[in-house]
Amino acid sequence: MRNLQKAYHDIIDCLVEALEARDPYTCGHSRRVADMALELSRRAGLEGAELETVHMAAHLHDIGKIGVPDHVLRKPCRLLPHERAAIQRHPVIGYNILIKSRQLEQIALIVLCHHERWDGEGYPSGLKEEAIPLGSRIIALCDAVDAMTSDRPYRQALSWRECWDNVVANKAKQFDAVLVDAAQELCPLWKKRLCPCCA
Ligand SMILES: [Fe+2]
Ligand SMILES: [Fe+2]
Repeated sequence: MRNLQKAYHDIIDCLVEALEARDPYTCGHSRRVADMALELSRRAGLEGAELETVHMAAHLHDIGKIGVPDHVLRKPCRLLPHERAAIQRHPVIGYNILIKSRQLEQIALIVLCHHERWDGEGYPSGLKEEAIPLGSRIIALCDAVDAMTSDRPYRQALSWRECWDNVVANKAKQFDAVLVDAAQELCPLWKKRLCPCCA
């Protein structure tokens, strides 16, 4: 049983590695989001198998980017509308990859919904509030924090203050307000890890 569990984790690591080999930006992103998602899930009261599921889904959340063309994935400037549409297919591509394994069904669903927004303005389905799986809401918040505090080819990383002000301004809009409050207590830890220069 333990061997099986180990094989299962190793396969997930292989999938993440495959994605990171393709997209330099994603290098490290999945791991940072997974660390934050684990911490926030614990704050939100998750434990046991549920906690483990969210953690693994966070490692795999962008796996669908494997199916996005290189010229879009690696474009060093802002995307055109049709390129944005191509990148916005990654949650569905990720779902289609993971759903091949019945064991990964819960993870596939969380991955499918990680770009949904609390106010229903997200994608791919425009789900709202608690219709969005809790794991997806947790990953959405951690994903946004990591994206804002990372340098992108077309903009510099935001400072921790700018990042967190943005999260708070989007409470109950982009993000689940309960999770924003729970994440507040993790701010000193995340700030130190993601923005050591702001400390
Ligand atoms: Fe994503
Ligand atoms: Fe992401």
